[in-house]
Parts: sequence; structure tokens; C-alpha cells
Amino acid sequence: MEKKNSVMEEIISLCKRRGFIYQGSEIYGGLAGTWDYGPYGVALKKNIENTWWKRFVTDREDMYGVDAAILMNQNVWKASGHVAGFADPLVEDLKTKKRYRADHLLEDNGVDVKGLTLDKINALIKEKGIKSPDGNALGEARQFNMMFKTNIGAIEDDSSVVYLRPETAGGMFVNFKNILDTFHPKLPFGTAQIGKAFRNEIAPRDFIFRVRELEQMEIEYFIHPDAWKETFESFRKEMHEFATEVGLPSTKVHELEVADEDRAHYSKRTIDFEFDFPIGKKELWGLAYRTDFDLQSHTRESKVDLSYFDEANKTRFVPHVIEPSFGVGRTMLAIISSAYTEDELGGEKRIYLKLSPKVAPVKVAVFPLLKNKPELVNKAREVFSSLKKEIGNVEFDDNGNIGKRYRRQDEIGTPFCVTIDFDTIEKDDSVTVRDRDSGNQERVKISELISYIKEKIS
Ligand code: GAP
Repeated sequence: MEKKNSVMEEIISLCKRRGFIYQGSEIYGGLAGTWDYGPYGVALKKNIENTWWKRFVTDREDMYGVDAAILMNQNVWKASGHVAGFADPLVEDLKTKKRYRADHLLEDNGVDVKGLTLDKINALIKEKGIKSPDGNALGEARQFNMMFKTNIGAIEDDSSVVYLRPETAGGMFVNFKNILDTFHPKLPFGTAQIGKAFRNEIAPRDFIFRVRELEQMEIEYFIHPDAWKETFESFRKEMHEFATEVGLPSTKVHELEVADEDRAHYSKRTIDFEFDFPIGKKELWGLAYRTDFDLQSHTRESKVDLSYFDEANKTRFVPHVIEPSFGVGRTMLAIISSAYTEDELGGEKRIYLKLSPKVAPVKVAVFPLLKNKPELVNKAREVFSSLKKEIGNVEFDDNGNIGKRYRRQDEIGTPFCVTIDFDTIEKDDSVTVRDRDSGNQERVKISELISYIKEKIS
């Protein structure tokens, strides 16, 4: 247990030290459950999102991208069931008045919390004599709605209430008719969206694993009800393929068939994709069969017909939905934690991120051997510019000795470092290319460098 936590601490420290992720509002003491992404974090996040978007949207003919508003009419969330039921069990320390997730306290006391009702939670807290982390008595557990509520406009009354969306899905269901009317797609087709969602988690914890402001990559795939099983299976397979594509080891990705009593209110079948995080095996992504729950509910609440007319069979019906849902932050934590490696190279301990070149924030770093030799610096700048034009995420570094520069690049997971030395300019117009994982170095002609690197990182 201690080892696991210390790995997480190391990762948090590396993420801050190397400009991946900082605490939100840090100079004011932070804001729990929020994190800010620095330059390398943004680059890694964008690489994940672009890989996802390419695979699930641009490489397909049946997917429509949307980017809906975060603030939505409150009736969206009444229809979806979130106003009534998007809640976690909360319990109060009777002395300090601090609030805790009742299910987390039970879990910490070795209770399997799957499928527990509120009554059962309360009974177990009493039966086991569970106290707050400060050792005080606890009150009755109550359901606590996790949506952030605010008011739109100048008047604060019930009619001006809006919620920050708790999932990006809502923005796609309300645009179902727009996509039908504008593009006239035939079933099956999907809508896809990447964007922020907000959840007032009572206990945000474990770095970016459980946060209050999160980012999701979601698909609502509309189908004839008869096709739900095969569509579910095909996305299940694609989700595993995406995991491999972003470099997640398949041995660390597991499936959990979610039991009836633990599924969200809209789902008839859910598989959680779990991952071996340093904090244990936890949910990474979800795949759900949402049936026609959402389109039917929105039809009732909005009084707008959200059915589909099948020209071929001359039938009208409300489509069913398969929903693959990916948390961007959890994907990033999975990638960083599985890439985090400590080893010994040339008799020295080192830390490096064994990132897949596909997601690495920097693909190549270019160094002149010495900073104070203009001929080396100029040549290195030339090589850097030509690589940058072709590859994009390339960095120039002339700070400190070569060993230190390698270590810095290793820590951010740069797959290759290119060094320009005296032989480059005096002898053979070739450079040294050093491989991050093995530390092996190879001489490569400058004229062949771009194709050499492109082949290695593709
Ligand atoms: N539209 C379906 C949906 O939102 P979910 O299981 O509640 O389903 C989907 O969330 C994914 O979003 C999760 O599998 C996880 O990757 C991510 N996620 C959910 N809550 C999160 C939180 N508080 N912090 C970080 N990621 C979260």
C-alpha cells in the first residue's frame, strides 16, 4: 500500500516539476478537485484527444462531431434524470461538520459497497461503529446531488437555475434532431464530443483521478434496437484498440460487467474498463447501452418528436444508443503512471516516461554538443528547424551538459534526442540519435534524419 502511494507521489511531483500538471489556483492555496495543465500536459492531452478524434470521428463516415454549450436549459437535466438522481451518499461528522462520502468510509473499512442502498449504508455505519476520519460520530447518510447549480441572468429564482453539465452526453441528445435535419444520416450513426463536465464530488482525490472539473470524450451512437448487441461488441473492441494505440499495456486494462444494482439509471448494460492505477484497479472508461431512455425522456420533456423514419422499411421508431465514454484525465493518469519508469543507465539512477511516440509531448529534442560554439549551435538550429517543420513537436535545448539534457527529456518521455557534435560539421554531416529507452546511440546522416525519425515515431 505504501509503495503504491509513493509511486503516486512521485508521479504528482514529476508532473509539477516538469510542467505537466499544477494544482488549480495554487498561489491561493489551491481549489480542491481542480488541476491546471502546463505546456507538456496540454501537449499530451491534445495528443490523446487528437488520436481519439481521428479514430472515432475523422476516420469514419458515420460520426458527426459536435461542441455543445456547457450551460444548458435546466429541463435537459430534469429529463435525463440527473436532477432527481445524480447523487452520492454523504455523511456528516457531527462535531466538525465536515462531510464525507459514506461509501468511501465503508470501503476504507473493508466493506464491499457495490449495490448498497442508502438504508443499508446507514445500517452498516451503525453496525460497524464507523467514525469520521477525525474519530467523531457520524450523522445519517443522505443523498447529495453532484451537479453544480448557478443562475443565469440577473434574477435568482427557480426559473433562472442552470446546471453545469455533469456529462457531455446531454449536449449530443439535444442536438440529435439538428443532426438529422441538417445531414439526413441513415441509421446507424453517431455524434461525438470532447469537452468539460462538472461534478461536485464530495471527496475529490487521487490527483487527477477524481476531480470536480473534468473532461470527457463521448460518443452517442444511434441504432435500431435490434443492433444493440453487435454495436456494443464492436465499440468494446475499439476501446481496447484505442487503449493500445495510446500506449496502455493491455495487461493493465480489465473489464468489469457492472451489476444491475450498480448501473446508472439509464443503462441496461454497462462495462467499466478498469485500469491498474498506482492507487489500485479503478474505473478508467465506461461503455453503456442507454437504450432509448434519453431520446424518449427528452421527447416527453421538450414535446419535440425525436423519432427516426426508416425509409427502407417505412417504419418510425425512437433510436437506441450505445455510449462509449472516456475521461481524458483518467486516460492521461493511466498513460503517465504506466509509462513511469525508474532504472539505471550508465551506472546512474534515472526516471523516465516510457511514452508511446504517438502521445509524447515532445517527439525529438535537438542539442548542440556545446553551447559556446556558434558553428555547432547554428548547425543544430538548422537541423531543429527542418525537423520542426516536418514533425512539429520538436524542442531545442542547449542548457547544461548533455547528460542533464538527456535526463530532462527522459523525464518528459521524449523518444529521441539528436546531438550535433564536431564530427557533424568537420567530418560526415551526420548526427547522433539517442534512443530514450535503451540509451543506445546511432549515427544518422542529416539528409536521412527526417525519414529515420518519422519511421520510428509512426
Ligand atoms: N456519459 C456517461 C458518463 O458520464 P460516467 O461513468 O459517469 O459516465 C464517464 O463517466 C467517464 O468520465 C468515467 O469512466 C471517467 O473516465 C470519467 N469521470 C467521471 N467522473 C470523473 C471524475 N470525477 N473525475 C475524473 N474523471 C471522471
